[in-house]
Amino acid sequence: MNRSSQPPVPGGRLTEPAERLDSVPGPYGKQRRKQTDSALAPDLSQMSMSGQDTLNNSSPFASAVKSSSRGGLASVARLVKLGRCKNVVVVAGAGVSTASGIPDFRTPGTGLYANLEKYNIPYPKAIFNIDYFSNDPQPFFSLAKALYPGSHRPNYIHYFIRMLHHKGLLLRVYTQNIDGLEKLCGIPDDKLVEAHGSFATAACHLCYTAYPAKEAKQAIMNDKVPICTFCAATVKPDIVFFGEDLPQKYFLNTQDFPKADLLIIMGTSLQIEPFASLVNTVRSPVPRLLLNRNAVGPFKKVPLRRADHMELGDLEETVRRFAEMLGWNDDIEELMRSQETLSLPTLISSPLSVDQTSCQSRGAPAGTETSRSRAGGQRGASSGSEETDSKSSASSSQST
Ligand code: OAD
Repeated sequence: MNRSSQPPVPGGRLTEPAERLDSVPGPYGKQRRKQTDSALAPDLSQMSMSGQDTLNNSSPFASAVKSSSRGGLASVARLVKLGRCKNVVVVAGAGVSTASGIPDFRTPGTGLYANLEKYNIPYPKAIFNIDYFSNDPQPFFSLAKALYPGSHRPNYIHYFIRMLHHKGLLLRVYTQNIDGLEKLCGIPDDKLVEAHGSFATAACHLCYTAYPAKEAKQAIMNDKVPICTFCAATVKPDIVFFGEDLPQKYFLNTQDFPKADLLIIMGTSLQIEPFASLVNTVRSPVPRLLLNRNAVGPFKKVPLRRADHMELGDLEETVRRFAEMLGWNDDIEELMRSQETLSLPTLISSPLSVDQTSCQSRGAPAGTETSRSRAGGQRGASSGSEETDSKSSASSSQST
């Protein structure tokens, strides 16, 4: 992707919460990380709610909010079955892929940001900071060897999103994930916004001249630095770093969110802007359903907005229950079987087993280094009869 032709769009730059420890140089250790985590908490509250009425573990309102969310899933399922939700927007984060064995970013202990010691960086998010990369690309390139598409498979949650499309109900999925699993499960390009980019393309980090993604990968895998043929600066995969603009496609949100009649937010801490604020741009009567382990963003506020619902717990388990309520479970299982049979031969064995093993020994889940599906597999998986699917399934959704 040559982004030099795309002028920066106001409000479209990837940013972290206002208070940053990023700018504090020096080695980080357990104590520093702890400070980072706790220092971020107040910022998140400020982002979308006042400190007084936010939900935290010690809040006396915590149980009230949890119980008020009971039945939320069933209420939303009822709306879908009644045909009231035909323009569903899904907002997704790393929690969607943990069931595929890919760690999220911020879960204490297992999250990526808690496991970066070996990269010798001054603070965890430096690894995705464009200015840091410009000065020293090595830490990111070392991590990228593990991040590149490879050995992980889409899970039930990805296929649930695909089923929304299959039923003709998905307006768009906005994902922050760079693992490519949405594509790999067969969600077509026109339904997918990879808001934080992907490994599918590469470009110069300075002049944005496009560079063949395959060659960039080859260089990185062989501990070489890919160099821009135009300005000789360092090339990187088109993952959006802190301080960079989001892809142009992200701005479809200005059309989509006002049109949405249901927003499903899954597996994200809603900490990173501008993505996090998207959830506040649907019309106020539109139901918003949060499926996550914990309350995040505006769902920490007491009381919840009238049309807000949340179901807290393990995401895959919750999505399975939701699918059961909708009568979609068998369809999803069948879709998974057929899609996995179709795309399994495209898998390559991961060259990253050493990294994975070392992370597992720190107690992280299997395949704990973020690993991504390969481009060939994505293309194969996302091709197919999506238009037919949508049309035929639109009618099938009426009967559920
Ligand atoms: P985070 O790690 O910040 O948040 C993941 C959320 O998913 C957390 O609230 C977890 O509790 C929840 N979660 C994880 N596993 C779950 C499970 N099995 N069931 C239920 N909930 C679960 O990840 P993101 O919000 O996606 O940016 O992070 C946003 C961005 O921050 C990323 O795209 C990345 C990072 O810096 C870049 O790298 C540019």
